[in-house]
Amino acid sequence: MNAFRQGEWVALTSQKGKKWLIRIEEGPYSSHLGTVQMEDIVGKEEGDYLDTNKGARMFLFRPTLEDYIFSMNRHTQIIYPKDLGAIVFYGDIQPGCTILESGIGSGALSLALLRALGGTGRLISVEKRPEFAHMARVNIVKYFGKPPENHEVVAGDIQDFYMNIKADRIFLDLPEPWHCIASVSQLIRHGGLLISLSPNVGQVQLMFRELKAHGFANITTFELLKRDWMVDERRARPIDRMVAHTGFITIAKRTPRLFTEPEQVILDKV
Ligand SMILES: C[S@@+](CC[C@H](N)C(=O)[O-])C[C@H]1O[C@@H](n2cnc3c(N)ncnc32)[C@H](O)[C@@H]1O
Repeated sequence: MNAFRQGEWVALTSQKGKKWLIRIEEGPYSSHLGTVQMEDIVGKEEGDYLDTNKGARMFLFRPTLEDYIFSMNRHTQIIYPKDLGAIVFYGDIQPGCTILESGIGSGALSLALLRALGGTGRLISVEKRPEFAHMARVNIVKYFGKPPENHEVVAGDIQDFYMNIKADRIFLDLPEPWHCIASVSQLIRHGGLLISLSPNVGQVQLMFRELKAHGFANITTFELLKRDWMVDERRARPIDRMVAHTGFITIAKRTPRLFTEPEQVILDKV
C-alpha cells in the first residue's frame, strides 16, 4: 500500500496512453478529456483510475523519469531517453562516482546522472549561460522536491574551468567539445571515462583527434536507433514515424600517457 499523497506528482493517463503530469493539489484539473477533482486522487493506489466529468477514464500512475523529462521546461535541445539510458550504462555510472558535466542545458542528463548516483558521490555541472543554469536547477529541484546535496552548478565556460578534482567520469554535450579537451583532460583520473554526445559526424572526428592527442584511448563511437511498434489484437508493425537521429555517442578512456606517435605507427603495431 503506497497511496497517493497531497503534493506529489501523478501521471493522469488516458486509455490511449496520453499523459498529463500534475502535482496533486486541491481543486479541478481539466484537459480536453474533461475534469477531475485533484483531491479525489489522494488515497488512491497506482493503477487506480478516476472518470472525468465527460466520462473519460484516467489511470493514475507515478511518473517515470522519462515522463518527467518530456514534461519539464526545455529551452535547449535535451539528450533523449534512449541515449540517456546508454550513457548511464556504457558510462558505467555507479553510486559514489565524481562526475563533471558540461553544459547543463535543461538538466535532462543531470537528472539521469543524479538518479543513478542515488544521493551519493558528486555531480558538478558547468554551464556558461546563467539562464539555462537557472532553468535546469528549477527542473531538478522540482523533480527531487529539494536541491540534491551532491549537485553543484557552476556558472562559466568549461574551456576556462578548473577545480581540484580527479573525476571518474566527464560528460560533454557541447557544440564544440574539442576546444575543452586540453583542459578537462587534467580533471579526470587515469582509467576514467569521457563521454560526449554530438549530432554531426564532423564533430565526432574533431573530437577523436583531440582525445587522442590528450591521453585518451579505446575511443568508440556509436548511435542508437529506437523504432517503436504499434501492437494490438489486429496489428503488429513499426509505427510510421520515428526520431531517426539524435546524436553520436563517443566514449574514451583516460590513460597516463600521451599518444604522440603518428596514427600509422600505432596501427602498424597492432
Ligand atoms: C545541448 S545543451 C545540453 C543539454 C543537456 N545535456 C540536457 O540533456 O538537458 C548544450 C548546453 O551547453 C552550454 N554550453 C555551450 N558551450 C559551453 C561552454 N563552452 N561552456 C559551458 N557551457 C556551454 C549551452 O549554453 C547549453 O546549455
